[in-house]
Amino acid sequence: MKYPILTAEEAASLIKNDYTIGIGGFSSVGTPKAIPSALAKHAQALHEKGEEFRVGLITGGATGKQIDTELSLAHAVKFRTPFQSNKDMRAAINSGEVQYFDVHLSMIGQDVNYGFLGKIDVAIVEASDITEDGKIILSTSVGISPTLVKVADKVLIELNASHTGKLTGMHDIYIPEIPPYRKPINIVNPGDRIGTTYVDVDPKKVLGVVMTDCRDNMAPFTPLNEETQTIGNLVADFLVKELKNGGIPKEFLPLQSGVGNVANAVLGALGDNPEVPAFSMFTEVIQNSVMDLIMKGRCNYVTGSSLSLTEDALNMMYDNMNVFGNRVLLRPQEITNHPELIRRMGIIALNTALEADIFGNINSTHVSGTKMMNGIGGSADFARNAYLSIFTTPSTAKGGLISSIVPMVTHTDSSEHSVRVIVTEQGVADLRGKSPSQRARLIIENCAHPDYKQLLWDYLKLSEGKGLHTPHSLQNAFKMHIALAETGDMRNCKFA
Ligand code: COA
Repeated sequence: MKYPILTAEEAASLIKNDYTIGIGGFSSVGTPKAIPSALAKHAQALHEKGEEFRVGLITGGATGKQIDTELSLAHAVKFRTPFQSNKDMRAAINSGEVQYFDVHLSMIGQDVNYGFLGKIDVAIVEASDITEDGKIILSTSVGISPTLVKVADKVLIELNASHTGKLTGMHDIYIPEIPPYRKPINIVNPGDRIGTTYVDVDPKKVLGVVMTDCRDNMAPFTPLNEETQTIGNLVADFLVKELKNGGIPKEFLPLQSGVGNVANAVLGALGDNPEVPAFSMFTEVIQNSVMDLIMKGRCNYVTGSSLSLTEDALNMMYDNMNVFGNRVLLRPQEITNHPELIRRMGIIALNTALEADIFGNINSTHVSGTKMMNGIGGSADFARNAYLSIFTTPSTAKGGLISSIVPMVTHTDSSEHSVRVIVTEQGVADLRGKSPSQRARLIIENCAHPDYKQLLWDYLKLSEGKGLHTPHSLQNAFKMHIALAETGDMRNCKFA
Protein backbone atom coordinates (compact mmCIF):
# COMPACT_ATOMS: atom_id res chain seq x y z
CA MET A 1 0.00 0.00 0.00
CA LYS A 2 1.34 3.36 -1.09
CA TYR A 3 -0.42 5.28 1.70
CA PRO A 4 -0.25 5.02 5.51
CA ILE A 5 -2.90 2.82 7.12
CA LEU A 6 -4.83 4.59 9.89
CA THR A 7 -7.54 3.60 12.30
CA ALA A 8 -10.85 5.45 11.90
CA GLU A 9 -10.14 7.22 15.21
CA GLU A 10 -6.70 8.36 14.06
CA ALA A 11 -8.23 9.66 10.83
CA ALA A 12 -11.04 11.46 12.69
CA SER A 13 -8.57 13.13 15.03
CA LEU A 14 -6.96 14.85 12.01
CA ILE A 15 -10.20 16.79 11.42
CA LYS A 16 -10.31 20.10 13.25
CA ASN A 17 -13.15 22.31 14.47
CA ASP A 18 -14.61 24.49 11.71
CA TYR A 19 -13.23 22.34 8.86
CA THR A 20 -15.21 22.03 5.66
CA ILE A 21 -15.37 18.35 4.80
CA GLY A 22 -16.15 16.96 1.36
CA ILE A 23 -17.92 13.64 1.68
CA GLY A 24 -17.71 11.29 -1.29
CA GLY A 25 -20.49 9.07 -2.54
CA PHE A 26 -24.05 9.61 -3.60
CA SER A 27 -27.61 8.70 -2.80
CA SER A 28 -26.81 6.93 0.49
CA VAL A 29 -24.32 4.53 -1.08
CA GLY A 30 -20.57 4.50 -1.58
CA THR A 31 -20.21 7.09 1.17
CA PRO A 32 -17.49 6.75 3.82
CA LYS A 33 -18.65 5.08 7.02
CA ALA A 34 -15.96 4.45 9.63
CA ILE A 35 -14.35 7.92 9.68
CA PRO A 36 -17.63 9.90 9.97
CA SER A 37 -18.79 7.55 12.72
CA ALA A 38 -15.51 8.03 14.60
CA LEU A 39 -15.78 11.77 13.97
CA ALA A 40 -19.21 11.87 15.65
CA LYS A 41 -17.70 10.21 18.76
CA HIS A 42 -14.70 12.54 18.61
CA ALA A 43 -17.09 15.54 18.51
CA GLN A 44 -19.11 14.23 21.45
CA ALA A 45 -15.96 13.73 23.51
CA LEU A 46 -14.83 17.29 22.77
CA HIS A 47 -18.30 18.70 23.59
CA GLU A 48 -18.22 16.87 26.93
CA LYS A 49 -14.95 18.68 27.70
CA GLY A 50 -16.67 21.96 26.82
CA GLU A 51 -14.82 22.38 23.53
CA GLU A 52 -16.42 23.66 20.33
CA PHE A 53 -16.51 21.19 17.42
CA ARG A 54 -18.69 21.67 14.36
CA VAL A 55 -17.89 21.11 10.71
CA GLY A 56 -19.40 21.93 7.32
CA LEU A 57 -20.45 18.99 5.15
CA ILE A 58 -20.44 19.10 1.36
CA THR A 59 -21.65 15.85 -0.15
CA GLY A 60 -22.78 14.61 -3.54
CA GLY A 61 -26.31 13.94 -2.31
CA ALA A 62 -27.85 11.77 0.40
CA THR A 63 -25.41 9.93 2.67
CA GLY A 64 -25.44 6.96 4.99
CA LYS A 65 -26.58 7.06 8.61
CA GLN A 66 -22.94 7.31 9.79
CA ILE A 67 -22.93 10.81 8.38
CA ASP A 68 -26.35 12.43 8.54
CA THR A 69 -27.67 10.57 11.59
CA GLU A 70 -24.56 10.26 13.71
CA LEU A 71 -23.04 13.66 13.03
CA SER A 72 -26.33 15.53 13.41
CA LEU A 73 -27.18 13.74 16.66
CA ALA A 74 -23.68 14.62 17.89
CA HIS A 75 -24.49 18.30 17.09
CA ALA A 76 -21.31 18.35 15.03
CA VAL A 77 -22.67 19.93 11.82
CA LYS A 78 -22.94 23.66 11.19
CA PHE A 79 -23.48 23.62 7.42
CA ARG A 80 -24.83 21.04 5.00
CA THR A 81 -25.31 20.90 1.24
CA PRO A 82 -26.73 19.87 -1.29
CA PHE A 83 -29.28 17.08 -0.48
CA GLN A 84 -30.23 14.78 2.39
CA SER A 85 -33.07 12.39 3.04
CA ASN A 86 -32.48 11.65 6.69
CA LYS A 87 -34.92 12.35 9.53
CA ASP A 88 -32.30 13.46 12.06
CA MET A 89 -30.50 15.78 9.66
CA ARG A 90 -33.90 17.08 8.47
CA ALA A 91 -34.82 17.90 12.09
CA ALA A 92 -31.50 19.70 12.62
CA ILE A 93 -32.03 21.69 9.42
CA ASN A 94 -35.62 22.62 10.24
CA SER A 95 -34.72 23.64 13.80
CA GLY A 96 -32.11 26.04 12.42
CA GLU A 97 -29.16 24.21 14.02
CA VAL A 98 -27.75 23.33 10.59
CA GLN A 99 -27.60 25.91 7.81
CA TYR A 100 -28.69 24.10 4.65
CA PHE A 101 -27.91 25.11 1.08
CA ASP A 102 -30.29 23.26 -1.27
CA VAL A 103 -28.89 23.33 -4.79
CA HIS A 104 -29.27 21.45 -8.08
CA LEU A 105 -27.13 18.31 -7.98
CA SER A 106 -25.57 19.07 -11.37
CA MET A 107 -24.17 22.27 -9.88
CA ILE A 108 -22.67 21.32 -6.53
CA GLY A 109 -19.46 19.81 -7.99
CA GLN A 110 -19.13 22.84 -10.22
CA ASP A 111 -19.67 25.21 -7.27
CA VAL A 112 -16.91 23.38 -5.41
CA ASN A 113 -14.63 23.47 -8.46
CA TYR A 114 -15.25 27.22 -8.94
CA GLY A 115 -14.39 27.84 -5.28
CA PHE A 116 -17.86 29.24 -4.55
CA LEU A 117 -18.05 27.32 -1.26
CA GLY A 118 -14.59 28.21 -0.01
CA LYS A 119 -11.75 25.88 0.84
CA ILE A 120 -12.38 22.15 1.29
CA ASP A 121 -10.07 21.14 4.12
CA VAL A 122 -10.41 17.42 3.72
CA ALA A 123 -12.19 15.04 1.36
CA ILE A 124 -13.23 11.62 2.65
CA VAL A 125 -14.05 9.08 -0.05
CA GLU A 126 -14.82 5.38 -0.18
CA ALA A 127 -12.76 3.22 -2.53
CA SER A 128 -13.31 -0.34 -3.66
CA ASP A 129 -9.65 -0.55 -4.57
CA ILE A 130 -6.43 1.47 -4.70
CA THR A 131 -4.05 0.77 -7.58
CA GLU A 132 -0.33 0.08 -7.14
CA ASP A 133 0.41 3.66 -8.18
CA GLY A 134 -2.13 5.10 -5.72
CA LYS A 135 -5.16 5.81 -7.93
CA ILE A 136 -8.61 5.42 -6.42
CA ILE A 137 -11.20 3.00 -7.78
CA LEU A 138 -14.46 4.25 -6.28
CA SER A 139 -17.12 1.95 -4.83
CA THR A 140 -20.90 1.87 -5.38
CA SER A 141 -21.23 5.53 -6.37
CA VAL A 142 -19.34 8.46 -7.80
CA GLY A 143 -21.19 11.67 -6.84
CA ILE A 144 -18.71 14.55 -6.69
CA SER A 145 -15.87 12.42 -5.27
CA PRO A 146 -13.48 13.16 -8.20
CA THR A 147 -14.00 16.92 -7.78
CA LEU A 148 -13.61 16.75 -4.01
CA VAL A 149 -10.38 14.76 -4.34
CA LYS A 150 -9.12 17.28 -6.87
CA VAL A 151 -9.81 20.45 -4.86
CA ALA A 152 -9.47 19.39 -1.20
CA ASP A 153 -6.32 20.24 0.70
CA LYS A 154 -6.10 16.71 2.10
CA VAL A 155 -7.71 13.36 1.32
CA LEU A 156 -8.71 10.44 3.53
CA ILE A 157 -9.70 7.16 1.89
CA GLU A 158 -11.80 4.31 3.26
CA LEU A 159 -10.91 1.11 1.43
CA ASN A 160 -14.00 -1.09 1.59
CA ALA A 161 -13.04 -4.77 1.21
CA SER A 162 -16.65 -5.81 0.62
CA HIS A 163 -16.46 -4.37 -2.93
CA THR A 164 -12.77 -4.91 -3.71
CA GLY A 165 -12.21 -6.26 -7.22
CA LYS A 166 -15.93 -6.22 -8.05
CA LEU A 167 -16.42 -2.73 -9.45
CA THR A 168 -13.20 -2.15 -11.35
CA GLY A 169 -14.04 -0.89 -14.83
CA MET A 170 -17.59 0.20 -13.99
CA HIS A 171 -16.78 3.90 -13.52
CA ASP A 172 -16.28 6.58 -16.15
CA ILE A 173 -14.60 9.54 -14.45
CA TYR A 174 -14.55 12.89 -16.23
CA ILE A 175 -14.70 16.37 -14.70
CA PRO A 176 -15.62 19.24 -17.05
CA GLU A 177 -12.95 21.93 -17.27
CA ILE A 178 -13.51 25.36 -15.75
CA PRO A 179 -14.70 28.01 -18.26
CA PRO A 180 -13.35 29.49 -20.51
CA TYR A 181 -11.56 26.16 -21.14
CA ARG A 182 -14.62 23.89 -20.99
CA LYS A 183 -15.15 21.69 -24.04
CA PRO A 184 -18.27 19.93 -25.34
CA ILE A 185 -18.96 16.79 -23.34
CA ASN A 186 -18.59 14.06 -25.92
CA ILE A 187 -21.47 11.79 -24.94
CA VAL A 188 -24.14 11.08 -27.54
CA ASN A 189 -25.50 7.75 -26.28
CA PRO A 190 -25.95 6.76 -22.61
CA GLY A 191 -23.13 4.20 -22.77
CA ASP A 192 -20.43 6.40 -24.35
CA ARG A 193 -17.26 6.48 -22.26
CA ILE A 194 -15.17 9.64 -22.08
CA GLY A 195 -13.08 9.31 -18.93
CA THR A 196 -10.97 7.02 -16.79
CA THR A 197 -11.98 4.07 -14.63
CA TYR A 198 -10.14 5.58 -11.65
CA VAL A 199 -9.82 8.89 -9.79
CA ASP A 200 -6.39 10.44 -9.96
CA VAL A 201 -5.11 11.88 -6.68
CA ASP A 202 -1.99 13.77 -5.78
CA PRO A 203 -0.33 11.23 -3.43
CA LYS A 204 1.10 14.06 -1.30
CA LYS A 205 -2.45 15.02 -0.27
CA VAL A 206 -3.43 11.57 1.00
CA LEU A 207 -3.31 11.53 4.80
CA GLY A 208 -4.00 7.81 4.94
CA VAL A 209 -6.30 4.88 4.33
CA VAL A 210 -8.78 3.33 6.77
CA MET A 211 -9.67 -0.31 6.02
CA THR A 212 -13.37 -1.23 6.23
CA ASP A 213 -15.58 -4.16 5.26
CA CYS A 214 -19.12 -2.91 5.37
CA ARG A 215 -22.02 -2.75 2.92
CA ASP A 216 -24.21 0.34 2.41
CA ASN A 217 -27.34 -1.03 4.11
CA MET A 218 -30.01 0.39 1.81
CA ALA A 219 -33.52 0.09 3.26
CA PRO A 220 -35.92 -2.02 1.16
CA PHE A 221 -38.66 -0.19 -0.73
CA THR A 222 -42.21 -0.02 0.57
CA PRO A 223 -44.26 -2.55 -1.43
CA LEU A 224 -46.34 -0.98 -4.22
CA ASN A 225 -49.88 0.00 -3.24
CA GLU A 226 -52.86 0.52 -5.50
CA GLU A 227 -52.25 4.26 -5.76
CA THR A 228 -48.58 4.06 -6.76
CA GLN A 229 -49.34 1.16 -9.11
CA THR A 230 -52.06 3.21 -10.83
CA ILE A 231 -49.72 6.19 -11.26
CA GLY A 232 -47.11 3.86 -12.76
CA ASN A 233 -49.63 2.39 -15.20
CA LEU A 234 -50.93 5.83 -16.22
CA VAL A 235 -47.39 7.04 -17.02
CA ALA A 236 -46.68 3.88 -19.02
CA ASP A 237 -49.96 4.24 -20.96
CA PHE A 238 -49.23 7.91 -21.65
CA LEU A 239 -45.79 7.10 -23.05
CA VAL A 240 -47.22 4.31 -25.22
CA LYS A 241 -49.80 6.75 -26.61
CA GLU A 242 -47.04 9.27 -27.35
CA LEU A 243 -44.99 6.56 -29.04
CA LYS A 244 -47.95 5.59 -31.23
CA ASN A 245 -48.80 9.14 -32.25
CA GLY A 246 -45.18 10.06 -33.01
CA GLY A 247 -44.67 12.33 -29.98
CA ILE A 248 -41.79 10.04 -29.01
CA PRO A 249 -39.55 8.59 -31.77
CA LYS A 250 -40.10 4.88 -32.51
CA GLU A 251 -36.60 4.07 -31.15
CA PHE A 252 -37.90 5.40 -27.80
CA LEU A 253 -35.71 7.71 -25.68
CA PRO A 254 -33.54 7.22 -22.60
CA LEU A 255 -35.35 7.56 -19.28
CA GLN A 256 -34.48 9.33 -16.07
CA SER A 257 -36.32 8.24 -12.99
CA GLY A 258 -36.35 10.14 -9.70
CA VAL A 259 -36.12 8.81 -6.16
CA GLY A 260 -38.79 7.37 -3.91
CA ASN A 261 -41.62 4.90 -3.97
CA VAL A 262 -43.66 6.47 -6.76
CA ALA A 263 -40.60 6.62 -9.03
CA ASN A 264 -39.94 2.94 -8.35
CA ALA A 265 -43.56 2.04 -9.20
CA VAL A 266 -43.44 3.99 -12.47
CA LEU A 267 -40.31 2.14 -13.61
CA GLY A 268 -41.85 -1.21 -12.70
CA ALA A 269 -44.97 -0.39 -14.74
CA LEU A 270 -42.92 0.69 -17.75
CA GLY A 271 -41.01 -2.56 -17.58
CA ASP A 272 -44.21 -4.62 -17.40
CA ASN A 273 -45.89 -2.87 -20.33
CA PRO A 274 -45.12 -4.91 -23.50
CA GLU A 275 -45.93 -1.90 -25.70
CA VAL A 276 -43.01 0.07 -24.25
CA PRO A 277 -39.89 -1.06 -26.14
CA ALA A 278 -36.81 -2.13 -24.17
CA PHE A 279 -35.19 1.17 -23.16
CA SER A 280 -31.97 2.62 -21.86
CA MET A 281 -31.61 4.90 -18.86
CA PHE A 282 -29.57 8.04 -18.38
CA THR A 283 -30.38 8.76 -14.78
CA GLU A 284 -29.01 9.85 -11.45
CA VAL A 285 -29.83 6.98 -9.09
CA ILE A 286 -29.91 3.33 -10.13
CA GLN A 287 -32.57 1.68 -7.95
CA ASN A 288 -33.49 -2.00 -7.50
CA SER A 289 -36.21 -1.89 -10.14
CA VAL A 290 -33.60 -1.14 -12.84
CA MET A 291 -31.65 -4.29 -11.99
CA ASP A 292 -34.84 -6.34 -12.41
CA LEU A 293 -35.53 -4.65 -15.73
CA ILE A 294 -32.03 -5.49 -16.99
CA MET A 295 -32.43 -9.13 -15.90
CA LYS A 296 -35.74 -9.32 -17.79
CA GLY A 297 -34.21 -7.73 -20.90
CA ARG A 298 -36.48 -4.67 -20.56
CA CYS A 299 -33.64 -2.24 -19.90
CA ASN A 300 -30.66 -2.42 -22.27
CA TYR A 301 -28.28 -0.07 -20.54
CA VAL A 302 -28.18 2.17 -17.49
CA THR A 303 -25.81 4.91 -16.52
CA GLY A 304 -26.15 6.79 -13.24
CA SER A 305 -24.13 8.12 -10.34
CA SER A 306 -24.98 5.47 -7.75
CA LEU A 307 -25.99 1.86 -7.32
CA SER A 308 -28.64 2.53 -4.66
CA LEU A 309 -29.36 -1.14 -4.28
CA THR A 310 -30.43 -3.29 -1.39
CA GLU A 311 -28.02 -6.04 -0.35
CA ASP A 312 -29.93 -8.67 -2.40
CA ALA A 313 -29.95 -6.60 -5.58
CA LEU A 314 -26.23 -5.76 -5.28
CA ASN A 315 -25.38 -9.43 -4.72
CA MET A 316 -27.51 -10.33 -7.74
CA MET A 317 -25.47 -7.87 -9.79
CA TYR A 318 -22.14 -9.18 -8.49
CA ASP A 319 -23.27 -12.78 -9.20
CA ASN A 320 -24.28 -11.91 -12.77
CA MET A 321 -21.53 -9.66 -14.00
CA ASN A 322 -21.76 -11.38 -17.40
CA VAL A 323 -25.16 -9.64 -17.72
CA PHE A 324 -24.53 -6.40 -15.81
CA GLY A 325 -20.81 -5.74 -16.40
CA ASN A 326 -21.31 -4.11 -19.78
CA ARG A 327 -24.77 -2.69 -19.11
CA VAL A 328 -24.14 -0.56 -16.01
CA LEU A 329 -21.90 2.51 -15.83
CA LEU A 330 -21.27 4.94 -12.96
CA ARG A 331 -20.42 8.59 -13.66
CA PRO A 332 -19.90 11.81 -11.68
CA GLN A 333 -23.16 13.69 -11.06
CA GLU A 334 -21.73 16.66 -12.97
CA ILE A 335 -22.18 14.36 -16.01
CA THR A 336 -25.32 12.33 -15.18
CA ASN A 337 -27.25 15.54 -14.54
CA HIS A 338 -25.60 17.75 -17.12
CA PRO A 339 -28.09 19.99 -19.00
CA GLU A 340 -26.09 19.68 -22.24
CA LEU A 341 -26.42 15.89 -22.24
CA ILE A 342 -30.03 15.74 -21.04
CA ARG A 343 -31.09 18.10 -23.83
CA ARG A 344 -28.94 16.36 -26.47
CA MET A 345 -30.12 12.84 -25.76
CA GLY A 346 -33.78 13.81 -25.34
CA ILE A 347 -34.23 12.31 -21.91
CA ILE A 348 -37.75 11.51 -20.70
CA ALA A 349 -37.67 12.73 -17.10
CA LEU A 350 -39.89 11.21 -14.41
CA ASN A 351 -39.85 13.00 -11.06
CA THR A 352 -42.05 13.25 -7.99
CA ALA A 353 -43.74 16.29 -6.48
CA LEU A 354 -44.90 16.96 -2.94
CA GLU A 355 -47.50 19.31 -4.39
CA ALA A 356 -48.39 20.79 -7.77
CA ASP A 357 -50.48 23.86 -8.40
CA ILE A 358 -53.29 24.20 -10.87
CA PHE A 359 -51.00 26.19 -13.19
CA GLY A 360 -48.30 23.50 -13.29
CA ASN A 361 -45.71 24.71 -10.79
CA ILE A 362 -44.09 22.00 -8.69
CA ASN A 363 -42.97 21.93 -5.06
CA SER A 364 -40.68 18.96 -4.42
CA THR A 365 -38.97 20.16 -1.28
CA HIS A 366 -40.87 22.31 1.21
CA VAL A 367 -43.78 21.00 3.29
CA SER A 368 -46.22 23.92 3.59
CA GLY A 369 -43.56 26.14 2.08
CA THR A 370 -41.48 26.18 5.24
CA LYS A 371 -40.19 22.76 6.32
CA MET A 372 -37.46 21.10 4.28
CA MET A 373 -38.19 17.53 3.24
CA ASN A 374 -35.08 16.35 1.33
CA GLY A 375 -33.96 18.88 -1.23
CA ILE A 376 -34.38 19.57 -4.94
CA GLY A 377 -31.86 16.88 -5.84
CA GLY A 378 -31.51 16.46 -9.57
CA SER A 379 -35.22 16.80 -10.30
CA ALA A 380 -34.98 20.25 -11.84
CA ASP A 381 -31.72 19.48 -13.72
CA PHE A 382 -33.75 16.92 -15.61
CA ALA A 383 -37.13 18.67 -15.64
CA ARG A 384 -35.75 21.87 -17.16
CA ASN A 385 -33.80 20.15 -19.92
CA ALA A 386 -35.76 17.00 -20.69
CA TYR A 387 -37.44 16.08 -23.98
CA LEU A 388 -40.53 15.42 -21.90
CA SER A 389 -40.75 16.29 -18.23
CA ILE A 390 -43.34 14.35 -16.23
CA PHE A 391 -44.12 14.91 -12.56
CA THR A 392 -46.09 12.38 -10.56
CA THR A 393 -47.72 12.61 -7.14
CA PRO A 394 -50.57 10.89 -5.33
CA SER A 395 -53.49 13.39 -5.44
CA THR A 396 -53.69 13.50 -1.63
CA ALA A 397 -51.34 12.98 1.31
CA LYS A 398 -51.82 12.04 4.97
CA GLY A 399 -54.96 10.01 4.37
CA GLY A 400 -56.76 12.75 2.42
CA LEU A 401 -56.15 15.64 4.87
CA ILE A 402 -53.88 17.27 2.28
CA SER A 403 -54.55 17.83 -1.42
CA SER A 404 -51.38 17.58 -3.49
CA ILE A 405 -53.10 19.77 -6.08
CA VAL A 406 -53.37 23.29 -4.68
CA PRO A 407 -54.16 26.79 -6.01
CA MET A 408 -50.57 28.01 -5.58
CA VAL A 409 -47.58 25.95 -4.50
CA THR A 410 -46.01 27.23 -1.30
CA HIS A 411 -42.52 26.88 -2.79
CA THR A 412 -41.49 26.43 -6.43
CA ASP A 413 -38.78 23.98 -7.46
CA SER A 414 -39.77 23.32 -11.07
CA SER A 415 -41.83 26.02 -12.68
CA GLU A 416 -44.75 25.91 -15.10
CA HIS A 417 -42.22 26.70 -17.84
CA SER A 418 -40.47 23.34 -17.44
CA VAL A 419 -43.29 21.01 -16.41
CA ARG A 420 -44.98 19.28 -19.36
CA VAL A 421 -47.14 16.57 -17.83
CA ILE A 422 -48.61 15.95 -14.37
CA VAL A 423 -49.88 12.52 -13.35
CA THR A 424 -51.76 11.50 -10.21
CA GLU A 425 -53.70 8.28 -9.59
CA GLN A 426 -56.74 10.25 -10.85
CA GLY A 427 -55.33 10.82 -14.32
CA VAL A 428 -52.96 12.68 -16.63
CA ALA A 429 -52.78 16.40 -17.45
CA ASP A 430 -50.80 17.07 -20.63
CA LEU A 431 -49.87 20.74 -20.30
CA ARG A 432 -47.95 21.19 -23.54
CA GLY A 433 -49.01 24.28 -25.47
CA LYS A 434 -51.67 25.27 -22.93
CA SER A 435 -52.30 28.69 -21.38
CA PRO A 436 -52.56 29.05 -17.57
CA SER A 437 -56.38 28.87 -17.66
CA GLN A 438 -56.34 25.81 -19.89
CA ARG A 439 -53.74 24.14 -17.67
CA ALA A 440 -55.78 24.84 -14.56
CA ARG A 441 -58.88 23.24 -16.10
CA LEU A 442 -56.94 20.14 -17.14
CA ILE A 443 -55.17 19.70 -13.82
CA ILE A 444 -58.34 20.14 -11.75
CA GLU A 445 -60.41 17.89 -14.00
CA ASN A 446 -57.82 15.13 -14.54
CA CYS A 447 -55.53 15.13 -11.50
CA ALA A 448 -57.32 16.50 -8.39
CA HIS A 449 -58.93 14.10 -5.92
CA PRO A 450 -62.77 14.16 -6.00
CA ASP A 451 -62.79 15.51 -2.40
CA TYR A 452 -60.97 18.63 -3.60
CA LYS A 453 -62.26 19.16 -7.13
CA GLN A 454 -65.10 21.55 -6.26
CA LEU A 455 -62.86 23.56 -3.94
CA LEU A 456 -60.33 24.03 -6.72
CA TRP A 457 -63.03 24.95 -9.28
CA ASP A 458 -64.34 27.50 -6.75
CA TYR A 459 -60.84 28.96 -6.48
CA LEU A 460 -60.42 29.21 -10.25
CA LYS A 461 -63.80 30.89 -10.64
CA LEU A 462 -62.80 33.63 -8.14
CA SER A 463 -60.53 35.25 -10.73
CA GLU A 464 -61.24 33.72 -14.12
CA GLY A 465 -62.71 36.17 -16.61
CA LYS A 466 -61.32 39.17 -14.76
CA GLY A 467 -58.71 40.02 -17.38
CA LEU A 468 -55.83 38.12 -15.76
CA HIS A 469 -53.41 35.93 -17.71
CA THR A 470 -52.90 33.74 -14.65
CA PRO A 471 -56.19 33.87 -12.74
CA HIS A 472 -54.93 33.84 -9.16
CA SER A 473 -56.72 35.37 -6.21
CA LEU A 474 -53.91 36.61 -3.96
CA GLN A 475 -56.25 36.86 -0.94
CA ASN A 476 -57.12 33.16 -1.30
CA ALA A 477 -54.06 31.52 -2.87
CA PHE A 478 -52.87 29.87 0.37
CA LYS A 479 -56.25 29.41 2.07
CA MET A 480 -56.08 25.61 1.66
CA HIS A 481 -52.68 25.55 3.40
CA ILE A 482 -53.97 27.89 6.10
CA ALA A 483 -56.98 25.60 6.69
CA LEU A 484 -54.53 22.70 7.07
CA ALA A 485 -52.42 24.62 9.59
CA GLU A 486 -55.46 25.78 11.58
CA THR A 487 -57.76 22.74 11.42
CA GLY A 488 -55.57 19.85 10.27
CA ASP A 489 -57.66 19.34 7.11
CA MET A 490 -57.50 21.25 3.82
CA ARG A 491 -61.12 20.36 3.13
CA ASN A 492 -62.15 22.95 5.74
CA CYS A 493 -60.90 25.73 3.47
CA LYS A 494 -63.34 28.60 2.80
CA PHE A 495 -62.48 31.11 0.10
CA ALA A 496 -63.42 34.75 0.66
N1 COA B 1 -47.75 18.03 2.10
C1 COA B 1 -47.20 17.46 3.20
N2 COA B 1 -46.63 16.24 3.22
C2 COA B 1 -46.63 15.54 2.07
C3 COA B 1 -47.20 16.04 0.89
C4 COA B 1 -47.77 17.34 0.94
N3 COA B 1 -48.32 17.88 -0.15
N4 COA B 1 -47.06 15.11 -0.08
C5 COA B 1 -46.42 14.07 0.46
N5 COA B 1 -46.16 14.32 1.75
C6 COA B 1 -45.46 13.47 2.70
C7 COA B 1 -46.00 12.04 2.68
O1 COA B 1 -47.13 11.92 3.52
C8 COA B 1 -44.80 11.27 3.21
O2 COA B 1 -44.73 11.48 4.61
P1 COA B 1 -44.21 10.32 5.61
O3 COA B 1 -42.77 10.13 5.25
O4 COA B 1 -44.43 10.93 6.96
O5 COA B 1 -45.06 9.12 5.29
C9 COA B 1 -43.61 12.02 2.58
O6 COA B 1 -44.11 13.31 2.24
C10 COA B 1 -43.05 11.34 1.32
O7 COA B 1 -44.11 11.14 0.44
P2 COA B 1 -44.25 9.83 -0.47
O8 COA B 1 -45.60 9.89 -1.11
O9 COA B 1 -43.85 8.60 0.29
O10 COA B 1 -43.25 10.17 -1.63
P3 COA B 1 -41.87 9.67 -2.16
O11 COA B 1 -41.15 8.70 -1.31
O12 COA B 1 -42.14 9.30 -3.56
O13 COA B 1 -41.02 11.07 -2.12
C11 COA B 1 -40.49 13.36 -2.58
C12 COA B 1 -41.52 12.23 -2.68
C13 COA B 1 -41.02 14.56 -3.35
C14 COA B 1 -40.24 13.74 -1.12
C15 COA B 1 -39.14 12.83 -3.20
O14 COA B 1 -39.38 12.35 -4.49
C16 COA B 1 -38.09 13.93 -3.26
O15 COA B 1 -37.39 14.17 -2.30
N6 COA B 1 -37.97 14.59 -4.42
C17 COA B 1 -37.03 15.69 -4.63
C18 COA B 1 -35.70 15.22 -5.12
C19 COA B 1 -35.79 14.43 -6.40
O16 COA B 1 -36.78 14.46 -7.10
N7 COA B 1 -34.75 13.71 -6.71
C20 COA B 1 -34.68 12.85 -7.88
C21 COA B 1 -34.01 13.50 -9.01
S1 COA B 1 -33.10 12.40 -9.98
